Amino acid sequence: MKAALFKEKDAPLLVTEVPKPLPGKGQVLIKLHAAALNHRDLWIQREQASPSANGIILGSDGSGVIEDVGEDVEEEIIGQEVVINPSIGWGKNPTVQADAFKILGFPDSGTFSEHIVIARKQVVEKPEHLSFEEAAATPLSALTAYRALFTKARLRPGEKVLITGVGGGAALWALQMAASFQAKVFVTSGHDTKIQKAISVGALAGHNYKQDDWAEQLKKNAGGFDVIVDTAGGRHFASLLDLVVPGGRIVNFGRTAGNIEDLSTRSLYWKQVSIFGTTMGTEDEFLSMLDFVHKHKIKPVIDKIFTLGEVNEAFRHMEEGRQFGKIVLKI
Ligand SMILES: NC(=O)c1ccc[n+]([C@@H]2O[C@H](COP(=O)([O-])OP(=O)(O)OC[C@H]3O[C@@H](n4cnc5c(N)ncnc54)[C@H](OP(=O)(O)O)[C@@H]3O)[C@@H](O)[C@H]2O)c1
Repeated sequence: MKAALFKEKDAPLLVTEVPKPLPGKGQVLIKLHAAALNHRDLWIQREQASPSANGIILGSDGSGVIEDVGEDVEEEIIGQEVVINPSIGWGKNPTVQADAFKILGFPDSGTFSEHIVIARKQVVEKPEHLSFEEAAATPLSALTAYRALFTKARLRPGEKVLITGVGGGAALWALQMAASFQAKVFVTSGHDTKIQKAISVGALAGHNYKQDDWAEQLKKNAGGFDVIVDTAGGRHFASLLDLVVPGGRIVNFGRTAGNIEDLSTRSLYWKQVSIFGTTMGTEDEFLSMLDFVHKHKIKPVIDKIFTLGEVNEAFRHMEEGRQFGKIVLKI
């Protein structure tokens, strides 16, 4: 089967033939129809060494059809259209993942491949309103956005929400979910065109964080925010403490702009702000997220579809930050 192998730090992925795996006990073999990129895959290529000399297959998000099952797995699911939960081994504590927790696609092989073998319990029926490409654009980023908004920030309908860096796949999921939940959503982006696109999928307004006075302008136009979802960190994070209302909640799950700088300790305690970190989610949250997406008939925004053979081009597109929404590989 064809797969995209990560063998060497900072080198392009190698698209090559590798042996097709066989499902073992409790596992299923999936013929993948689509996979999606996450910023995580870029961090891995820039920061990690391959855990195996033969390379590993990257990719956390995938959808496809069950082609075969191993021992102890019901044969009736052969032929089922499925989506993969990339959150593996969360453990018993819903508050935080166990030490053994892993995200599909590193250090174990993932979805940038024609087939994958994975534990039966990681596989859920594909929501019928989603195509394979849309389903592949869902798991990692939608799960993280869902936990951020609902488990951590405990968003209530009618609240005012700010999503930073809305062009990103996870940020856009947060926008679509919050808007479907009757929240009033504002956004920031480094591109005016992306702000306009965000308005077309449910945001009320937005400001360009590349302008020096973006935070002042945003506060003037929108007032304070009950909930802020941030995937960037960096020096702009300090402004979020000015933008959140007293008693408000800020959730972060990304570091696209680097480490947080110069946070006002006084604002933090005097405004009684809650800052949450979050990562991925539990199995229950994955199922609740899919229910939510199905109930509200949300379709992820797909920026561009590449083929598996074009995977390095797809990553260049992500690195240049040109995307609005998910970047998908059709397999
Ligand atoms: N912890 C977790 O479980 C988890 C899960 C999902 C994602 N993440 C993290 O979340 C981040 C986004 O991931 P993704 O897959 O959605 O990436 P992505 O699709 O590549 O999006 C990255 C986005 O970051 C935004 N950005 C860049 N610089 C920014 C800045 N200075 N201020 C605000 N926004 C900025 C950009 O938005 P504009 O183009 O609109 O400017 C860009 O579209 C990454 O850091 C990733 O590692 C973490």
